Amino acid sequence: MGNEESSMVRDSTHPSVLEARNIEAVAKYIKKHNVKKVVVMVGAGISTSAGIPDFRSPETGLYANLAMLDLEEPEDVFDIGFFRQNPKPFYALAHELYPGRYRPTIAHTFIKLLHDKGLLLKHFTQNIDCLERQAGVPGDKIIEAHGSFATQHCIDCKVPYPDDEMYEIVKSGKVPHCKECGGLVKPDIVFFGEALPESFFLNRSLPEEADLCIVMGTSLSVQPFASLPSMCSDGVPRVLINMDRVGSLGSRPDDVLLLGDIDVGVRKFATAMGWDEELEALWEETNPDPKSREAEDAPPLTRDERLQDEVDRLTEEVERSLGITSAYEKRVRERLGEASSNDGLAHVFPHLARQSR
Ligand code: OAD
Repeated sequence: MGNEESSMVRDSTHPSVLEARNIEAVAKYIKKHNVKKVVVMVGAGISTSAGIPDFRSPETGLYANLAMLDLEEPEDVFDIGFFRQNPKPFYALAHELYPGRYRPTIAHTFIKLLHDKGLLLKHFTQNIDCLERQAGVPGDKIIEAHGSFATQHCIDCKVPYPDDEMYEIVKSGKVPHCKECGGLVKPDIVFFGEALPESFFLNRSLPEEADLCIVMGTSLSVQPFASLPSMCSDGVPRVLINMDRVGSLGSRPDDVLLLGDIDVGVRKFATAMGWDEELEALWEETNPDPKSREAEDAPPLTRDERLQDEVDRLTEEVERSLGITSAYEKRVRERLGEASSNDGLAHVFPHLARQSR
């Protein structure tokens, strides 16, 4: 048996269930063991190639950019106490993130394909963009652990607010107020300090039943979601598709890491399964606009260019909603000046950078 530490070292180099620690061996395992209970756990990283910034990426993440907008902590934008005092930063973001503006990515489509193949037990998402639903994953297969924009309530009297009016008011960049008591209305997304939805707690032990676990696009830095991968039984392969290694992924003998761009990793997985053409065809079905199909023939924007465009657009929107004071603008200029020696912040405030030159 040996002590726990020595067996962990031996196991992490020799897989116990897989033939090797690579995606081809995972594909073989899926077929050979008739895998049918896949749990998928995701975060904002699966939506960045759609143009939605994630939270914690150092330059392009929302928190890095919100830090420039005078919130004491960027996480304040999702803090219920802060929201009561100043809901505008949240609604500036909501305007950007509201479902319907973005196309699902190849990763969302891969989850739909898992479902179509009868392999998906449950999809756990921290995302509020609803792109998995848009990709066609049925609602009963999805646990929206941090809630979603699907419904909304008054934070005081809890009376629901109509969906169509919510859509219009968020689109107009305004803040919705309760028709009954005048209190603030908030989408039912989970803010820091609020409980996760009941559906999360009812399903959180499901990973114990899984025969494969796929984690994508999350830093696994927010609990209790971050604990889900560790609920999978020993001997159940866990695949991480992400830029960086996160949580405890990689520590078990049958963990397989596909580090790098998620779309690339997902396509590699699909190819190993022999699903590559099917995946691309299914993804094409999510393309709403023939013009954008033509645009796809043009050289594609890089991930950085897409994120840069999105950050520029988002920054303009947040500035418009908050109304930047001249004192603050001065401070931003100073910060731009300070930062110019290390590549600057021109990507965050392009118009200020131009004026200050
Ligand atoms: P994070 O921003 O914390 O993590 C995103 C992860 O995805 C990081 O590890 C990135 O490196 C990776 N990533 C991003 N784009 C990628 C790409 N194209 N290819 C590969 N990897 C990529 O986002 P979450 O883990 O989702 O809470 O954050 C968790 C929660 O924190 C969110 O749900 C949100 C936030 O506060 C609430 O809104 C309540």
